[in-house]
Amino acid sequence: MLRRPRRNRQSAAIRSMVEETTLSVNDFIYPMFVMEGQNLTTEVKSMPGIFRYSLDKLLEEMAVVQDLGIRSIALFPQLGEDKKDKTASESYRQGSLYLEAINKIKNQFPDIAIMSDVAMDPYSADGHDGYVDEKGNILNDETLPILAKMAVAQAQAGADIVGPSDMMDGRIEFLRDALDIEGFSNVSIMAYSAKYASAFYGPFRDALDSAPKFGDKKTYQMNPANSREALLEAELDFNEGADFLMVKPALAYLDIIKLLNDNFDLPIAAYNVSGEYAMVKAAAQNGWLDGTKTMVESLTSIKRAGAKVILTYFAKEYAQL
Ligand code: PBG
Repeated sequence: MLRRPRRNRQSAAIRSMVEETTLSVNDFIYPMFVMEGQNLTTEVKSMPGIFRYSLDKLLEEMAVVQDLGIRSIALFPQLGEDKKDKTASESYRQGSLYLEAINKIKNQFPDIAIMSDVAMDPYSADGHDGYVDEKGNILNDETLPILAKMAVAQAQAGADIVGPSDMMDGRIEFLRDALDIEGFSNVSIMAYSAKYASAFYGPFRDALDSAPKFGDKKTYQMNPANSREALLEAELDFNEGADFLMVKPALAYLDIIKLLNDNFDLPIAAYNVSGEYAMVKAAAQNGWLDGTKTMVESLTSIKRAGAKVILTYFAKEYAQL
């Protein structure tokens, strides 16, 4: 045999020499949850090791996270039903928990990049990402001004990257214009370009109590059966001025990550979502999988597929490793 590929696998030194994909904490964005109250830390039941923090506790945790070398976070708010209404007005109210949290993190940890979430669902009495009319239709264009107010308020508070996550049409251009007009031309937009209507978001909706009050999200999030449509979505976001194109979830959509990476010269991000985290944790707790090895293998596969940036609940555990 002239060709024996095993020669390049024969020792740890050679294996690491020919290793094609390497992970770094620089690649990670760590999603974190902030909630109302004081001195509160509660674990998300379906996400062992992931907590919701009141703002005082979140700031303590930020110091831990920064010391571990994590440089970027994505923040999501959990709000009581009393804060929710039809127009998500809490999302852009000055002094709201979320805006205050962004502001305090930015002031105390100026070197951390903060990605904010631009969607109505955590603040919506309907539990949908967009404005819902009397007939139960989720309206596209009527939602735009709400998202613009939200994004500008988040930029004012100190967000470095805004993440419009509602998967509706015309988001990127509208937000780019709104941010530029208000003087935030340096604030980036990470487009949730190919976000699928996925069962893997379950634990996240538990964490935020943000499940839709009726229906599902299939008129805005993508059909898991489609990949050509992801190209169309990515092309629109590219042309509208996105700085990053994201695929979500990650593991069941590695082909989509590769498709976008092969076709667009922007950094591709992938969201290794709550359900993907929960599966690994549940199996590891049962002794059915080696949790650490499964984590590293999963994250490596996402990077190998073409994601430069990975939003993952494993960021802290990986950094500890
Ligand atoms: C909603 C949003 C969701 C997630 C992030 N932003 C859930 C949804 O679309 O219902 C899910 C993240 C995860 O599962 O980790 N704007």
